[in-house]
Amino acid sequence: MSFLNGATVGIDTVNNKAVFIDQTLLPTEYKEVFTDNFQEIFDAIKLLKVRGAPAIGVFTAISLAVLMNKSSAEAYEELLAELKKYAGDLILCRPTAVNLKWAAEEMLKTAENSNSENFKKSLTEKALKMIEDDISICHKIGEYGAEILKNCNSVLTHCNAGRLATVKYGTALSPVYVAKENGHNIKVYADETRPLLQGARLTASELCEAGVDTTVICDNMASFIMKNGLVQAVLVGCDRVALNGDTANKIGTSGVAILAKHYNIPFYVCMPFSTFDKNVKTGDDIVIEMRDGDEIGEMWYEKPMLPENAKTLNPAFDVTDHSLITAFITEKGVITPDEIEKFI
Ligand code: MRU
Repeated sequence: MSFLNGATVGIDTVNNKAVFIDQTLLPTEYKEVFTDNFQEIFDAIKLLKVRGAPAIGVFTAISLAVLMNKSSAEAYEELLAELKKYAGDLILCRPTAVNLKWAAEEMLKTAENSNSENFKKSLTEKALKMIEDDISICHKIGEYGAEILKNCNSVLTHCNAGRLATVKYGTALSPVYVAKENGHNIKVYADETRPLLQGARLTASELCEAGVDTTVICDNMASFIMKNGLVQAVLVGCDRVALNGDTANKIGTSGVAILAKHYNIPFYVCMPFSTFDKNVKTGDDIVIEMRDGDEIGEMWYEKPMLPENAKTLNPAFDVTDHSLITAFITEKGVITPDEIEKFI
């Protein structure tokens, strides 16, 4: 029986547990994990059991509420200090996705407006509200996106910015789901997304499950797809957007954007405002998470597939220049990179 019932993360308020789907097991195994253990929560984010910027943001909020509900501290100052410690440690897990920091800060603001009596209750209520908000924000992005895609038959997407990367619906895939709800079936080409294969394992499985016509391609095939007119738009998600519109997203996204520009195909970034970072002026200031090289040479192979002396470099994200982005599809509407500042 499923507790999450179509969602990606949740909170079991009866037993005080944070709940998530272990995405490293997908698509072969569906497993919901229930935890109130800090190390297990930390590892879940670090090892991408829970991943996708909005999902790790909401999961951070849920986890902080669950961890604080267990606390034996009674005095307000003690409770706040404990919350700050957990929040500070979780923020370090994944440095590029700003939603982690955003969610932790939202929880700290909530705590600062509470007192020792309602401290725990107000954090749980805030986490529940963030779950609800994420669902409605993503649906809104889908509504605006579906309107833009009215004349499209097929789109290309990179990584997974679908329901598994949020609580429900997703960002980049939400327009496809909403269009489907409206009777418009859009085909999706999904980049497999080396090295962790989020496109092949996650995007393809959630789209197929939803009955969307899905074709997986290797990352180096996008140019072929575009040149042959097989897609009319590109939709991607984002992990941190700077004031000038420069956008960090899964490694490979900037290459797709450069190709889209070359072939004159509109390139849309689907962005909940929780992924916008007004403290960062341009993409040059975005910290890029570097991950273990084993993800390239060993993770998906029975035997290591690289020669022993070969080095690896594994940046998890890259930055797409704002000049390559046609528009951001947000919960506040469709906006061009130079319009972002008006919406802050
Ligand atoms: O490393 P991941 O799998 O967390 O990377 C995910 C992405 O890059 C997504 O495109 C991004 O977080 C947006 S998800 C709506």
